[in-house]
Amino acid sequence: MSILIVYDSIFGNTAQIARAMADALTSSHEVKLASVQEARDIDLSGVDLLIVGSPTRGFRPTPEIQEFASRPDLSGRAAAFDTRIDLDTIHPAPLRWVVSAGGYAAERLSGELRDQGCTLVGEPAGFVVLGQEGPLKDGEAERAAAWARDLVAAPPTS
Ligand SMILES: Cc1cc2nc3c(=O)[nH]c(=O)nc-3n(C[C@H](O)[C@H](O)[C@H](O)COP(=O)(O)O)c2cc1C
Repeated sequence: MSILIVYDSIFGNTAQIARAMADALTSSHEVKLASVQEARDIDLSGVDLLIVGSPTRGFRPTPEIQEFASRPDLSGRAAAFDTRIDLDTIHPAPLRWVVSAGGYAAERLSGELRDQGCTLVGEPAGFVVLGQEGPLKDGEAERAAAWARDLVAAPPTS
């Protein structure tokens, strides 16, 4: 299977998650990993599975990855993930509710990919960073690798 992973990342955590996914898939698939800047003019023909990831900023994806996810030439199987702040580190408690209720980048990216005609596979996933700049919470890179492996075998969800 030809798999393209496109990500944006300000502090490097989403890039680490994307790399963990690529490493997990590369032994059995043809995997290309591209930052959103590298992916700007990328040829999407022949891609069997597109995985798109963004940090959650202000409840949504970055404008750059949002722009990528609204490319008119997207099609085929796709999935989205994000990184997000650890709710346990947010004080005071009511602010936790605001952050959680505001929503996350992966859900919005999934909606955009579906609107562009992609067939979603798996469920959108969020991976947790400690504080705003990271590092990743323990075990999140491994969880990302497992999520990516499951995607390859997942039936369509839309
Ligand atoms: C300006 C700003 C807004 C943020 N907004 C949210 C948010 O709405 N929800 C959330 O869970 N995390 C939020 N975060 C934390 C980011 O998700 C975190 O910085 C990001 O996952 C780190 O990924 P990166 O290292 O790839 O940039 C925000 C961080 C910044 C700096």
